[in-house]
Amino acid sequence: MSENRLRVAVTRRIFPELIDFLRARYEVRDNQADAPLSPQALREHLRDADGVLATGGDRIDAALLEACPRLKVVSNIAVGYNNIDLDACTAYGVAATNTPDVLNEATADHAWALLLAAARRVGEAERFVRAGQWKRWEFEMLMGADLYGRTLGIVGMGRIGRAIARRAQGFAMRVLYHNRKPLPSELAGAAEYRSLEVLLAEADHVIVVVPYSPQTHHLIGARELARMKPSAVLVNIARGGVVDDAALVEALRARRLFAAGLDVFENEPALNPAFLALDNVVLTPHIASSTRATRQAMADLAIRNLEDVLAGRRPAALLNAEVWDRRRR
Ligand code: GLV
Repeated sequence: MSENRLRVAVTRRIFPELIDFLRARYEVRDNQADAPLSPQALREHLRDADGVLATGGDRIDAALLEACPRLKVVSNIAVGYNNIDLDACTAYGVAATNTPDVLNEATADHAWALLLAAARRVGEAERFVRAGQWKRWEFEMLMGADLYGRTLGIVGMGRIGRAIARRAQGFAMRVLYHNRKPLPSELAGAAEYRSLEVLLAEADHVIVVVPYSPQTHHLIGARELARMKPSAVLVNIARGGVVDDAALVEALRARRLFAAGLDVFENEPALNPAFLALDNVVLTPHIASSTRATRQAMADLAIRNLEDVLAGRRPAALLNAEVWDRRRR
């Protein structure tokens, strides 16, 4: 391999054919062992890279960028990018990109799976059957919460929020949403804008799908949970930290909330162990976009973003547009 080829680092295992595709074009340092990289190991992994395909678990900050002087692009294989310090990337002249849109439908499907599973106690019922506890039919057995015809509150009516809202039509649900500001009517459709406080009180069930930032840290805490109906289900497919998990544990334990469906957690994968002892919560390991076709589409877009920057073209999903005008490298 030529010394002059550009170097690309991949931080976690992805489909082997994607690595082959990259190897045909670049010097590639991959991570077949798939062990999550500590900040120090990440610095080492990226030290001489021109570009990196990163994932949401890789912290990209000024210290890392300082140690990786060749880096021109951080291409996140995720739509969320709270792992990336965008200001630092801009200061170091590094383009940052993500994978919007291609995961909207799969992620909305998973939000719906969690909502249905938590409302109809699917996890709890499955554990009951597998444990051999099902001895006879009972009139009041494992009664769930209704969805059809009820009111759904969506906190974060972005692209994924709107894909969730479309699914609610099939359940004849009225949809309320909260965003920093109301959407134009062509995007909101039949969904009605509410303040967060009013949405939490009015909705029968709530799905949280806002990006994580210092402004959305613990957006749903004890006070917000207390506003919700005791018959409500809360679903979090956003990011750990948007919901105060300790407060949620307390609300679920005290049955001040009917149930929760969670795909993301504070400090994941080391989630709050109290969740494991609760029957009224459905837990999945941050897999909302994990279907074969969607992961393929995410990786394809991330690779396109990376290739574009390395070829001097503006990438489709550029997060720090400023960097394009004043690139230092
Ligand atoms: C997954 O969490 C993503 O941000 O794509």
